[in-house]
Order: sequence, then C-alpha cells, then structure tokens
Amino acid sequence: MPSPRPAFPAFRPRRLRRTPALRDLVQETRLSVKDLIWPVFIRDGAGVEEPVPSMPGVARLSLDRLLAAAEDAARLGIPAVCLFPYTDPALRTEGCEEAWNPENLTNRAIRALKREVPELAVMTDIALDPYNANGHDGLVRDGVILNDESVAALVRMALAQAEAGADILGPSDMMDGRIGAIRAALEAAGHGDVTIMSYAAKFASAFYGPFRDAVGASGRLVGDKKTYQINPANGDEAMACVARDLAEGADMVMVKPGLPYLDLCTRVKRELAVPTFAYQVSGEYAMIRAAAGHGWIDGERAMLESLACFKRAGCDGVLTYFAPAAARALGA
Ligand code: PBG
Repeated sequence: MPSPRPAFPAFRPRRLRRTPALRDLVQETRLSVKDLIWPVFIRDGAGVEEPVPSMPGVARLSLDRLLAAAEDAARLGIPAVCLFPYTDPALRTEGCEEAWNPENLTNRAIRALKREVPELAVMTDIALDPYNANGHDGLVRDGVILNDESVAALVRMALAQAEAGADILGPSDMMDGRIGAIRAALEAAGHGDVTIMSYAAKFASAFYGPFRDAVGASGRLVGDKKTYQINPANGDEAMACVARDLAEGADMVMVKPGLPYLDLCTRVKRELAVPTFAYQVSGEYAMIRAAAGHGWIDGERAMLESLACFKRAGCDGVLTYFAPAAARALGA
C-alpha cells in the first residue's frame, strides 16, 4: 500500500508533474529497447517481402530479407527475434511431419541467423499450427485434439530447433505436460543450456486473427482452440498453468494476449517472482495501426504508451511487432 499522505493542500501530486525534469526523476518504470522481442514471419523464396494485409507494416520475409532485418534489429539493440513460418500449403499434413524436419524453413532460418547475427537471441514457436492441415496446434483425430500424442510431436519439434541452435524455445501449443517433456528431452540430448519461455497463460482469444492470416492458418482452422487455450474469464486457472509450467522447467513465462490481460502480468510477477513476458499480439498491433492509419489516434504515442504499460504491470519484456519502430522511437 502507498504510504499515507497529508490532505490537500500539503499533498499536491501536480508538484512533481510540473516540469519534464521533475517528471523524469519520479518516473517509476522505463521502457528500453532491451525489453523487446521482435516476432517475425518468414517464408520461402529470395528477395521476398510479402505484406500481411491485416497487419500494416508487417511482411513475410524470405531468409535473405530476414537476415538483413535481423542485422538492423541487432544494430538497434533489440535482444531477440521470434520466428513464425508461413509453410508451403503442400507441406501441411494431418501428421505435421514438416514440424520436426531439420531442414524446414524455421530450422534453416535459425542456423542462418546464428551464423550471420550471432549476438541476436533466436526464439522459436513450438506448436503444430503452421504445419497442420487443419490449423490446430495439436494433432487431431476424429475432431478431438490429442494431448499426449501432440506432446510427443512437440518434443521432436523442440529437439530439431535446439539442434539448429535456437536460444529460446517458445511452446505456444497449450497441451498439458509439454514443458516437462521438452525439458527432459533437452537434458537427455545434451541441450541443457537451451531456455524455455512457456506460453503459460495463453488465452483463447479473438486477438490472434491477423496472426493466423500471416501464417496461413485462418482458412484452415476447423472449429476453435477452446479445448486447449484458457477461457479469457479465468485468472486463477491461468495462474495454476503458469505455476505448473515453472515446476516443469520453464525458465521464463509469458502472458498472451497482452493489454487485456495485464492483471495476469502483475499477478505472475508479484506472486511468483519469475521472468515475466507479455505478447502484444497481432490483433492488438492491428488495432493501433488501423486507428493510427485513419488518423484517429497518434500511432507512435499509442505504441509507446501500450509498451510502457507492460513494464508498469510488472513485465520484464514484451513480444511486439512494433519492436523496430519502438526501438527507433526510443532513440536507439
Ligand atoms: C500458434 C501461435 C499463435 C500466436 C502465436 N503462436 C496463434 C494461435 O494460438 O492461434 C498468436 C500471435 C499473435 O496473434 O500475434 N500457436
């Protein structure tokens, strides 16, 4: 609780808001370029930057363009990128075998990035949706998303990414038991140093729409993800999932989406005191860009304000499509 203050006029909070210098002195949290993880969509080809219509300013990049963008990101001081593949439709199957192909797009991108821009941390996504004929994060049989069979597939996917050199694995699938299984497999395979950022409090959200366009899963998704992603109304259940993933060996945890779920960011940081991240997801990005594009809000201020609020809520960092723009706005 804040310490008691005298009544007005002894307590005039406006005294400390009077000048920029005074405001700077008492600013409680600060957004830095070092807080940012940049999610990037990748695709096959060369010299390709294919705009994602529902995410103005975001494009799917071929690997040569990815390397150039990663060099820019590193120069700006952004510590990490997170890769999301747009998979050739011909490679999307019910068995999702492409997910653990050592030569798949993501694994080739990891190796290229670690070779060319080694100082940049590379994060990956572990879920089957970019490879699945039906757009789900897990294997599907007779309309049911299978838990344990999916975990076995996710372990293979994780090992292939670790083998390619990923620094941070990001299981986003929401199957039960996957963190423990991935952690054990990493240890057994000699990848004890690979970190896991669990998408631990991941909700069944409408705000993922533009992302699903970007990875080409929108038209494919049969049904919804409510049997594995958390009900947006449930905070205690999310806290239990975060605690469970930590107990199973996650090094860092994530709350996703971001702004509508800031209460979870605060609870995770206060109650569990672990490295806490939020994902400002595609729909959040699209809303700010769209309103700014219409001239309805100041896009740059809304971007910086939304990112700063994650710090106030207790986050150590944020995954955001704004990362390069925010880095520039912060003067990096
Ligand atoms: C895949 C995954 C999703 C996102 C990140 N990883 C989509 C989903 O769960 O449907 C969403 C990210 C965003 O909307 O920006 N499992």
